[in-house]
Amino acid sequence: MACRHYYAIHSGHESAFSVDTSIISYGPRVILEVGEHAKALKMSRVALFTDRTVRSLQCVADALQALKDAKIEVEIFADVHVEPTDASVLDAARFAVSGSFDGYVSVGGGSVIDTCKIANLLATYPENLLHYMRPPIGAGSPIPGPLEPHIACPTTCGTGTEATAAAVFKYLPLSMKLIVSGKVMKPSLGLIDPTTTYSLPKPVVAASGFDVLSHAIESYTARPYTRPVRPASTFHRPYLQGANPWSDIGCEAALKKMGKYFVRAYNDPGDHEARDAMIFAAAMAGTALGNAGTQLPHGMSYAVSGYNKSFRCEGYATDAPIIPHGMSVIVNAPAAFRFSASACPDRHLECARFLGADTKGAELEDAGEILAATVVQLMKATGIPNGLQAMGYQEGDADRLAEGVFSYQQRLIGLAPREVTKENLKDLFRGSMTCWSQA
Ligand SMILES: [Fe+2]
Repeated sequence: MACRHYYAIHSGHESAFSVDTSIISYGPRVILEVGEHAKALKMSRVALFTDRTVRSLQCVADALQALKDAKIEVEIFADVHVEPTDASVLDAARFAVSGSFDGYVSVGGGSVIDTCKIANLLATYPENLLHYMRPPIGAGSPIPGPLEPHIACPTTCGTGTEATAAAVFKYLPLSMKLIVSGKVMKPSLGLIDPTTTYSLPKPVVAASGFDVLSHAIESYTARPYTRPVRPASTFHRPYLQGANPWSDIGCEAALKKMGKYFVRAYNDPGDHEARDAMIFAAAMAGTALGNAGTQLPHGMSYAVSGYNKSFRCEGYATDAPIIPHGMSVIVNAPAAFRFSASACPDRHLECARFLGADTKGAELEDAGEILAATVVQLMKATGIPNGLQAMGYQEGDADRLAEGVFSYQQRLIGLAPREVTKENLKDLFRGSMTCWSQA
């Protein structure tokens, strides 16, 4: 069935969508403006979050100087865990609680920004982390009010977390990645300085780039905002509403940039035009997903990275096993898009076209395969492992992966454009063991 009326309104169902935009400043060396912005946000004593690798880079020195010039007191927390855990975010929160800060600055990739979001939350409204985590793990209590201001300065070509209201970490008791979120967790401002990405190693560009790409496709092909029953009031409307006309704009723009610049940015760190475009695409896709939401590939990824025991990835400053977030997402994407395409084939075809595929004359029943092939082509061009098997998983792991996702990632799989059963998930994980034939 074609989705020519994707946003058709039905009696008793949602008929409006809301737009929650992010404030960003984008440009080379814009990180030097952090002091002025911090002052404008009434910060006087700031916690600056970063990780050990980024701590030694010029961007942190620039941020510190700018804050000093603005006469703002700063304490640094440089022990952010790459791929944070509940234990590591609690360490960060203890630092935040003890420092009595009235503002936060994060300089780094998604791990740094997300850790800072949670530290700000737990220092502003001290509670056990489980208090804010969703059922069935936590109480899912709402965040009582605004947090302290937070300026996020991303330094990778992906995540877009500077524009979203969620923070992701690995919950060690379940070996599962989980989310804490709430509108007030969205940073007050994103300072996007593309020059911070010029020294990124190739695997980091590849992984973070696929995170961006999947944010855009998943948001564009999510179930429409008009599908749920109309909420009791505007205040009950979830901020992740599903696909909507406003998010569509950011998804399309991000995918067109990814199609044009991703492989160039991966291959040549000196191609500043391409790397600049990538981090801008990340912000656009992040803003889109912040109003729409990710779905199947992300839901599946939280088990893939959470259950990883042995896979390591070059380019990441950790000795521990790690499947970088974007990599854990994209290995599921070809199977997931083949599965979801029947719900809105024209949207899947459009995504392939935005990425540069020639879809003239394509049949709607081939939409999933065409989008999957377009993604696979980019995976091959950027050194992504060929599926879960290349990351140490076997077919026999599919059931456990599916059980974990079905039990703990219902919010994400509920945003898929078609219903997802546990059996579907098992098939999808089996289908993700390899993404392309070796022949
Ligand atoms: Fe993501």
